[in-house]
Amino acid sequence: MLIRYKKTFEKIAMGLLSFMPSEKDLKKLQQTIKQYEAVDNWQLFLWKQEDIIGLIGVSFPNDTSMEIQHISVNPSHRHQGIGKNMVKALKELYPEKTFQATEDTAEFLGKCDFEGILTQGRE
Ligand SMILES: CC(C)(COP(=O)(O)OP(=O)(O)OC[C@H]1O[C@@H](n2cnc3c(N)ncnc32)[C@H](O)[C@@H]1OP(=O)(O)O)[C@@H](O)C(=O)NCCC(=O)NCCS
Repeated sequence: MLIRYKKTFEKIAMGLLSFMPSEKDLKKLQQTIKQYEAVDNWQLFLWKQEDIIGLIGVSFPNDTSMEIQHISVNPSHRHQGIGKNMVKALKELYPEKTFQATEDTAEFLGKCDFEGILTQGRE
């Protein structure tokens, strides 16, 4: 299930974020986590089964849309549908929002959209 980021999850969240190609540099990674902690329209979620094994980070550029900025799954748990499940759960949490990708997430989200995950429930 999707849970909201808290400071106590900082280490695990940084570990997961570091799998994003754009977050390889430690300074950049620390800056990104700080932004999720400090900026109201940036929200970070974690995917918890027994352990925390996934992360999805979004921003809200305006009232109607949501931009998926970061998405990452622990390498030992990939190819089991967790990435897609996180997108689906987020869509259920924010059914009114139009989802957007960034350059860093477009490739995988394009795949989700292709499978109807992002468009489910939309008119
Ligand atoms: C992208 C990521 C989150 C997918 O997580 P996952 O739990 O394995 O995803 P799912 O099991 O729901 O879907 C797997 C499918 O997504 C596709 N996929 C995986 N990574 C992809 C990528 N970077 N771009 C496009 N499609 C991708 C594959 O077709 C895969 O199918 P397969 O299992 O038949 O090989 C994971 O690979 C990851 O953490 N990557 C490193 C971080 C990253 O690069 N994030 C940005 C991606 S654009």
